[in-house]
Amino acid sequence: MLQALSIEEMQEEKKPNIVILATGGTIAGSIDSNIKTTGYTAGVVGVDVLINAVPEIKNLANIKGEQIANIDSADMTDEIWLTLAKRINKLLASRDVDGIVITHGTDTMEETAFFLHLTIKSDKPVVLVGAMRPSTAMSADGPKNLYNAVALAANPKAKNKGVMIAMNDRIQSARGATKTHALNVETFKSPNSGDMGYILDGNVFFNYVPLQPHTRKSIFNIDRIDTLPKVDILYSYANDGSGVAAKALFQAGTKGIVVAGSGAGSIHKYQKEVLKNLMQKGLVVVQSSRVGSGIVLANSNDSKLGFIGAHDLNPQKARILLMLALTKTNRLDAIANIFETY
Ligand code: SIN
Repeated sequence: MLQALSIEEMQEEKKPNIVILATGGTIAGSIDSNIKTTGYTAGVVGVDVLINAVPEIKNLANIKGEQIANIDSADMTDEIWLTLAKRINKLLASRDVDGIVITHGTDTMEETAFFLHLTIKSDKPVVLVGAMRPSTAMSADGPKNLYNAVALAANPKAKNKGVMIAMNDRIQSARGATKTHALNVETFKSPNSGDMGYILDGNVFFNYVPLQPHTRKSIFNIDRIDTLPKVDILYSYANDGSGVAAKALFQAGTKGIVVAGSGAGSIHKYQKEVLKNLMQKGLVVVQSSRVGSGIVLANSNDSKLGFIGAHDLNPQKARILLMLALTKTNRLDAIANIFETY
């Protein structure tokens, strides 16, 4: 005979089940002074401490925590990305998990978010969150950000929106978001698309959804992949014509280079000559911009040579798309098509 559930058990059952995957960052950072917001060590505090610091999240959802890594996100690796993506795909395939929150350093959060946006195979919400002030700081921003992230991941409206970032009450799409301030809590912005939405007292409001394919509609699948192709970024600046770095990268095994070009993706004419020669040997070159907003299309001469425009992806996001594109094809027309689509 089935036993009747208590009211508390029935309420627990109705709440969504959210798993918090911790990777480190300032949200898990610590220093022995509550006035210091620099000079701390990121990625020190464990996931249980983060969860227990915000008991209110247990009113929003049934919470479980897992520690995937505990690093400063400047030290992020392909290996951790692949572990994280595979773990999320496994968790979200279960009927017992309704959404995922990932605690992460803010420095490379946009990169991890975009990688997951293109490789997670589920419509369920996946939300990245971090903090600009360490957990020990006066007025630390981590607890409120974590509360908001859980409120977002637990909300049915957040389904099928791709991977999102919840920081400072704002919701950003993984595709558009970038860190814009080195220190301030108001740092994540989406210069080309604007905020995706807002979180107010645990309520979620959306303004737009990303139109480019993501998650279940993305063609990229990392299930059977253990390493990613090597892709690097080359920064443009005045008088940057030697090509030494490009040649060295190619010799070290780089398959693709994203150029953070000046203006609308411009590359110094001598640098371009070097890249053209390396392209004859199989290097793939994508032109993005160091400017921070706008769209880069390879001009007709450049695209005839095989240069590919990153569209509105900043260099660090174009790098991720090129890495994933190279897991599928080396054909330049196919890669150009991927950049038009994603
Ligand atoms: C990091 O990215 O791990 C450190 C900086 C931060 O989280 O804000």
